[in-house]
Amino acid sequence: MVAALASGEPEAVVVGGGVRVPRLARVVPDAVAVGDGGAGLEWGRGPVLVTGGTGGLGRVVARHLVVERGVRELLLVSRRGPAAEGVEGLVAELSRAGARVSVVACDVADGAAVADLVARHGVGAVVH
Ligand SMILES: NC(=O)c1ccc[n+]([C@@H]2O[C@H](COP(=O)([O-])OP(=O)(O)OC[C@H]3O[C@@H](n4cnc5c(N)ncnc54)[C@H](OP(=O)(O)O)[C@@H]3O)[C@@H](O)[C@H]2O)c1
Repeated sequence: MVAALASGEPEAVVVGGGVRVPRLARVVPDAVAVGDGGAGLEWGRGPVLVTGGTGGLGRVVARHLVVERGVRELLLVSRRGPAAEGVEGLVAELSRAGARVSVVACDVADGAAVADLVARHGVGAVVH
């Protein structure tokens, strides 16, 4: 407990006498680019689902995935989906960059709707 307080971390848990703090860690090695076959890894097979993919950050992420990461299949999801402003232009841009893009209306707070979405499209990775 003293060590947890002394760590200065905003969040910590004490487990079995040890202090644990949250950290993000890369689970796919840098060398394995999405879309290059993935060397047998499951990650990257099927479209990359971007939640809020028609919003401000979602668009930035989508461009990054296609241009910098070589993603060739994107599934952009928001509640308005294809009805969101500027979607046509976004899809055209990403398509010119070499990606196959689907834009789907789905409320990701609705578990059943998300289960259906994943079942219908298959998903290789999720950026939420
Ligand atoms: N922009 C920044 O600098 C910044 C910085 C730090 C954190 N953030 C956080 O990052 C997130 C995205 O920011 P943003 O600037 O990209 O916002 P944004 O332009 O408003 O985009 C949000 C996107 O999420 C979708 N969305 C919202 N609720 C949804 C739901 N239940 N199911 C599916 N899609 C949903 C919206 O579309 P629909 O309304 O059609 O569903 C929209 O496409 C926000 O949570 C924001 O607080 C942003």
